[in-house]
Amino acid sequence: MWFTPQQKDEILSRTDIVDVIGSYVNLKRSGRSFMGLCPFHNEKTPSFSVNPDLQIYKCFGCNASGNVITFLMEYDNMSYSEAINYLGEKAGVQGEDRMNSESAKKFNDKKNKLFEINKQAATYFYRCLKSKDGYYGYKYLRDRGLTDETIIHFGLGFAPQNSTQLYEILKEKGYDDGILMESKLFKKDGNKVYGIFWNRVMFPIFDRSNHVIGFGGRVMSDAKPKYLNSLENDVFSKRKNLFAMNFARKSKENYFILCEGYMDVISLHQAGFTTAVASLGTALTEEQAREIKRYADNVYLTYDSDDAGQKAAIRGIPILRSAGLSPRVINMEPYKDPDEFIKNLGSDEFKKRIDDAMNGFFFECEYAKKRYRMSDPDERANFIKKVAHLIADLNDEVVGESYIKSASVRYSIDEGILKNNVRSIRQSNAGMVSRSEKRQENIKQYEQKNHKLTGINKAYALVLSWLLKEPEDYGRISKWIGYDDFVDEEYREVAKKIFEQLEANKLNPASIIGEYEDAAMQQRVSSMLQTDFDFELPRAEREVALNEMVTLIKRNSVSHQMKNLTDVNKITELAALKKKLEKPDAIKV
Ligand code: UTP
Ligand code: MN
Repeated sequence: MWFTPQQKDEILSRTDIVDVIGSYVNLKRSGRSFMGLCPFHNEKTPSFSVNPDLQIYKCFGCNASGNVITFLMEYDNMSYSEAINYLGEKAGVQGEDRMNSESAKKFNDKKNKLFEINKQAATYFYRCLKSKDGYYGYKYLRDRGLTDETIIHFGLGFAPQNSTQLYEILKEKGYDDGILMESKLFKKDGNKVYGIFWNRVMFPIFDRSNHVIGFGGRVMSDAKPKYLNSLENDVFSKRKNLFAMNFARKSKENYFILCEGYMDVISLHQAGFTTAVASLGTALTEEQAREIKRYADNVYLTYDSDDAGQKAAIRGIPILRSAGLSPRVINMEPYKDPDEFIKNLGSDEFKKRIDDAMNGFFFECEYAKKRYRMSDPDERANFIKKVAHLIADLNDEVVGESYIKSASVRYSIDEGILKNNVRSIRQSNAGMVSRSEKRQENIKQYEQKNHKLTGINKAYALVLSWLLKEPEDYGRISKWIGYDDFVDEEYREVAKKIFEQLEANKLNPASIIGEYEDAAMQQRVSSMLQTDFDFELPRAEREVALNEMVTLIKRNSVSHQMKNLTDVNKITELAALKKKLEKPDAIKV
């Protein structure tokens, strides 16, 4: 069965989260919400709360949160489509054969139009690259070592200074404003329409069937942002696609090379490594890992050698593993990334580095080892415990057994001690309620480490959560900030949806959460929207806090805009605004 986004919303609106969760968990009414013992962690007093108005849940103990789909995915181990189908059947919403239904057809027509528009745009950018206006773009790419063949193969292009020309061409071809705005290639400023991309070299992004679904555009100087990426729409999902997947999937190799950047991928393909792919300016997702698993069993990570790159590798390894892939990490020292490496040492040397790549598990151990002083007995003991945890996390006894052996040799750990340690960790893991709990635990750790709500992210989450609790405050908050003021891309996407719903007086966070197919992502979005704010505080104190958060967001946004500007008048204007905002009571929500 297949459901359109509208049908999914219909399903959610006919479903009551309290009924569904209530069939698994004993829920009791408490004020406007329902409380129960959290099914995701062991507890004696209820901290699991289900909100029937907003159709979302949250545990104040373990931070599990989401909508009814998340619940079924996490608690019942359903996949996204299993959960939708299950709820669809219960709600009596008829799904349809992908091909036949009216609404599916309409949706497909729209997608085809977006594909066409993107293709026209890619062709246009390519023509510009080859024209006089595109000379600097072309020279830039050639200077970075790309051949004409590579440029054509990847369909690289150039977006000229005049960004409205593409719009005019497409209008002439008969596309209306509605669909052109949905392509996310343009933005409106009053009555005038501008292209998002100008004066950038353009990297078209293809889906696995060779449709152009979006673009990355790179500045040719040190200006910021270095890369601008299309926003998501009905054909472009950053979570599901990988750059160069359209080529990589055709290869017969049983391994993929996973890089950080567009240029890395292109250099590798040019050097003959045609299974190189990259995620699209965001961290690796479960969906991308599953996509790779369709074509290969092994993945070589070649992330940047800097701290951020190594951290990204540490984050990626378990995701690849749980998709059934076997991850290894390529050492590119002394070079920063594969692009630089290939330029300096060539493809034979890179092949050697592939052959010498470090097993993902040992990479995790080595990464941990750097953080312990091994000469200190206590710290060494902690390292050994960490190794035991890493082995237990593999969730595979046979594989674990073999790693116990090699780790004890490699780090001179007594094999028996390591074995016992792993066993007791496994036992306490098994005591957890379900696999979901393990996942919750991972997400929580991840959030604590990478997403610790500090500074601006905290302000974003608190303001969004406030709006959910007190939607009638939308008017006075939106007087000061719009979703564009959320600088972080993930938050901005969610803020945009919330603001639009509030604008239309149709607040529906469960529907926003339901758009994401990845349960971890659903949780992320859900917690952005349900960040604890002490609503018990006296109104006056809360008001002061709200005002501070809104001010923080606005200030941050203005500083960010200033960084990316070249227009002197605009800079002066923003500088004045910035100055004004520095006054303590510049904003009065
Ligand atoms: P890098 O900064 O490592 O860029 O970002 P790179 O690919 O090595 O670029 P070159 O070699 O300087 O041209 C890695 C990836 O992160 C995303 C892009 O997908 C980029 O390829 N990114 C980076 C952005 O989306 N926006 C940015 O501003 C920077
Ligand atoms: Mn680079």
